[in-house]
Amino acid sequence: MGTLGFHTLDTEADAELPVEGNLPTWLDGSLIRNGPALFEAAGTGVDHWFDGLAMLHRFSFDDGRVRYRNRFLRTESYERARGGEGLDGFATGNASVARKLKSLLVDAPYDNTNIVAERFGDRYLALTETPRAVAFDPETLDTLGHVRYDRDEPHGQLACAHLQRDPWTGRFVSFETEFGRPSRYHVFETDDATSRRHVGSVPVDEPAYMHSFALTPNYVVLTEFPFVVDPLEMLTSAGAFVDAFRWTPERGTRFVVLDRRSGGVVATTTTEAFFGFHHVDAYERDVQGRPAPAGDPATVADDDTDERPRPGSELVVDVETVPDAESLAALSLERLRSGDLGVFGGSLDRFVLSLRADGATVDHERLHDGTSLPTASPARRCRPYRYAYAQETDQPVTEWPTRLVKVDVETGESWTHRAHDGHVGEPVFVPRTEPNDPRDVGSPPLDAPEDDGLVLAVELDEAAGHSWLVVLDGESFEERARAAVPHAIPFDFHGRYFPEL
Ligand SMILES: [Fe+2]
Repeated sequence: MGTLGFHTLDTEADAELPVEGNLPTWLDGSLIRNGPALFEAAGTGVDHWFDGLAMLHRFSFDDGRVRYRNRFLRTESYERARGGEGLDGFATGNASVARKLKSLLVDAPYDNTNIVAERFGDRYLALTETPRAVAFDPETLDTLGHVRYDRDEPHGQLACAHLQRDPWTGRFVSFETEFGRPSRYHVFETDDATSRRHVGSVPVDEPAYMHSFALTPNYVVLTEFPFVVDPLEMLTSAGAFVDAFRWTPERGTRFVVLDRRSGGVVATTTTEAFFGFHHVDAYERDVQGRPAPAGDPATVADDDTDERPRPGSELVVDVETVPDAESLAALSLERLRSGDLGVFGGSLDRFVLSLRADGATVDHERLHDGTSLPTASPARRCRPYRYAYAQETDQPVTEWPTRLVKVDVETGESWTHRAHDGHVGEPVFVPRTEPNDPRDVGSPPLDAPEDDGLVLAVELDEAAGHSWLVVLDGESFEERARAAVPHAIPFDFHGRYFPEL
């Protein structure tokens, strides 16, 4: 178990990387990855991988060349840490949860936005699980300031960093959790990350920790794991924020289906307990398994395009599951650095929700076992898809992943890529685009082969002490090129490819 991936990277670089192999000329955008990179400062350290301070890494492609730049986000959390005030976070610290809740979520919500970066219109934002984003310059990676939603409308204290982009409208859909009596999940749609439309809300007694959700053309599906918190208990208990959550498997895992037009809950259905972080993709189909046909304009709201499919009677929701919430505790830095993972890796699981008049039902099918950080082509978002990509893990996990896997979710066939000498992170699929194609990466022609493109991932070479950007062919899943990074990049969370950068 190498531990370089869990150690602070304190250098900021701007360099052209030597490329081994060759890159296609159509690859002329930038991959921006986000993740924790500072784990200790002024004599204090964070306790959990999720709480390291955010660093952006940009790999820019131009005519077969790769340029790399990395910068810490100059957030309030970062300035406090550098100023000697120590480090804080969702899973770090011993202050009362009431104080923590207030300081993390209410007054000036925690701004260590280390999970992902997204583009909203012409702005680029780094996101975490508070309703406060950090804007950055996509060229220099300089920090530009904070973005916070209008607080007059319904809003929560905990946000979802995995906003989902609707390919028909271009809008992002997300939810927040408001703690109270009752607590509520609020669903929103937004164009530009500053103003947004409230879609609907779901009252709950004990809200769950949900890191992501599923979006289909007509529905939002919240996968409510039984990892819940009593809002009152939360205010009186001590320990880190996440320590207030309890694993309650007797509740099962509940799917809550919201209609995106009416905002109402149209179905709920419960299955056996599982936990998870990431949804892979979701879509609608009819009972014969056919994709829902395109809607006619009369059935869709004024501001929707007429290409949005009519509501399907079945929702296919693909989630990476783990047996329980132990995987959250397993990501403490103490355990990771000791090499003691001792948990099960994820499994790609398909849940098919049938929206029947007499009550919804759910069927479950395992697609693949032994994964982490699953992704799919951005061109298939909210639509039937065939290929999922992920880190491949042993079951149980014995070390940080050293392999990537491509899974055909229709046939179960899979392909493995093994890192040369180290560990490999989240794979990001980039569909092939033609030069000067006005469409963005989310909408190449749907008749193009789904895996015609490249897979980008960062590999950490423990022996050499530095990382590589590795580029795999999407179809064969074989390595096509690699570029040496001048330092070891700590294991990070999520990357997005921006063809316009
Ligand atoms: Fe995530």
